[in-house]
Amino acid sequence: MNNSSKLFERAVKLIPGGVNSPVRAFNSVGGTPVYIERGEGAYIFDADGNKYIDFCGSWGPLILGHSRPEVVEAIKKAAEQGTSFGTCSRREVEMAELLNRLVPYLEMLRMLSSGTEAVMTAIRLARGFTGKQKIIKFDGCYHGHTDCLLVSAGSGLLTSGNPSSAGVSRQVASDVIVAPYNNAEAVQKIFDLSAKEIAAVIVEPVAGNMGLVKPLPGFLGRLRTITEKAGALLIFDEVINGFRLGPTTYGKICGITPDLTCLGKIIGGGMPIGAVGGKSEIMKNLAPVGPVYQAGTLSGNPVALAAGIETLKILEKENPYPRLAKLAEQISSGINSISKKRGLKISCVSEGGMFTVFFTDRKPLDNLDEIKSCDTAKFAEFFHCMLNSGIYLSPSQFELDFVSTAHEEKEIDAFLEAFMKFASLHISLKSSGRS
Ligand SMILES: Cc1ncc(COP(=O)(O)O)c(C=O)c1O
Repeated sequence: MNNSSKLFERAVKLIPGGVNSPVRAFNSVGGTPVYIERGEGAYIFDADGNKYIDFCGSWGPLILGHSRPEVVEAIKKAAEQGTSFGTCSRREVEMAELLNRLVPYLEMLRMLSSGTEAVMTAIRLARGFTGKQKIIKFDGCYHGHTDCLLVSAGSGLLTSGNPSSAGVSRQVASDVIVAPYNNAEAVQKIFDLSAKEIAAVIVEPVAGNMGLVKPLPGFLGRLRTITEKAGALLIFDEVINGFRLGPTTYGKICGITPDLTCLGKIIGGGMPIGAVGGKSEIMKNLAPVGPVYQAGTLSGNPVALAAGIETLKILEKENPYPRLAKLAEQISSGINSISKKRGLKISCVSEGGMFTVFFTDRKPLDNLDEIKSCDTAKFAEFFHCMLNSGIYLSPSQFELDFVSTAHEEKEIDAFLEAFMKFASLHISLKSSGRS
């Protein structure tokens, strides 16, 4: 038994499923998780001394790769000055000013400790501000583990084959209406029936939690028009998208201004963080100014903010986005061309530095119903074949993979080489009738 398996054996005795977040378990791909001891640049190293090129990137925050020296230095410096004060501190102001400069429509912001908290706060604010109760979300979008949004959700819930969680009261769930992603017509119909009750529409502008699904032209714009007309808020959940596709939000890139934006992941540079921001008219409803309560012992934590501020400054200065998009595109076009030549039912989609390898040749893949055509058993084979070749991917068909600034051509070539190996194996299994 190797060291990772030994650690996992100890973990399952004390930690449910052996993991502190369900998506880390290998439930949908089989086997036991690898235990990572350290990361450096584009690489992670496990407890058995194996080295992998990391394309999971801690599920999105590590756009600069692992242990980027400037970020580590900023963390060290902040920690030496104190890890938490529970008082006001300088970096809270600096982060708010920085985010407001990079995304001017974030007129006011509140810093939190996770993406889940950002979404929770945005939903409470939307209800408090509008005086209405119902929320529209999209099938396959994941917005963290706040009760009301654990309905038809993506990410770990989709992986487990159970898109809604037990323990969510029927009353809470009944306040959420689920629409198909990329279908503004369906949203319009819901508003036609119950506009007076709808507080907000929440959407991942570029969906990532059912694998990568891009918004169709006009989809987000229609959501803006429909909500505006009905006096409901539009919430962009940019916990993944924010600063992933440019040194700003996706809303700013696509020219659609939501009322509220949820941020997390990248803005913490690998430390726990979340933020909600938007129109000051709405944000001023938060305590202590307004009646909507929100609080956090570690909110605006100085060490997390130091990592986040340094990360955002580097992203703004270096603008790595065209290069990240090019590298991810090299992966997607490489996979698509190998798959086409070999007759494999695989289609790889990329946007900026994000990509997903879908085990289906169905086109288009614009919503969860279409994504469900994927062969998850084949994905599991692919995942393990890549892992054995030293490539670490997000361990589920319904997730994103990420390219960081630490990845170079040689890591992309290694990815494609490993894929080629998988493709050859797959073909030979097929021709010997074992697939
Ligand atoms: C779009 C989106 N929103 C919210 C969250 C929740 O963030 P956190 O895991 O930091 O609570 C996630 C997490 O993956 C996410 O992808």
